[in-house]
Amino acid sequence: MTETAAAVATHTIHAELDGEMHSFSCRSDQTVLNAAEAAGVTLPSSCCSGVCTTCAAVVTEGSVEQPDAMGVKSDLQEQGYTLLCVAYPRADLKLRAGQEDALYEAQFGQYQK
Ligand code: FES
Repeated sequence: MTETAAAVATHTIHAELDGEMHSFSCRSDQTVLNAAEAAGVTLPSSCCSGVCTTCAAVVTEGSVEQPDAMGVKSDLQEQGYTLLCVAYPRADLKLRAGQEDALYEAQFGQYQK
């Protein structure tokens, strides 16, 4: 077994979207969005490159690595906001998908009041 293969773990993702819970597995070298699609779970997405925020979610349990999540400020990433198209799981995850509006409000809401 090569070192790379040894480092690839598989995690279980529990994703809630519009009140429905979807569960699927995701390798640590695979984005959560890709794993969802492979499992036949359709989550919101558009650009698939970490820019548009259509795929925004809030991770409530577990952690992700998302170095290319340009559309989310780092303090909001610390609060759990995640762009699933560029997020690699680092543990089993529980998350709420479909959080684009919540993310927009968290990032820009204070400028509109
Ligand atoms: S689909 Fe555009 S940021 Fe994820």
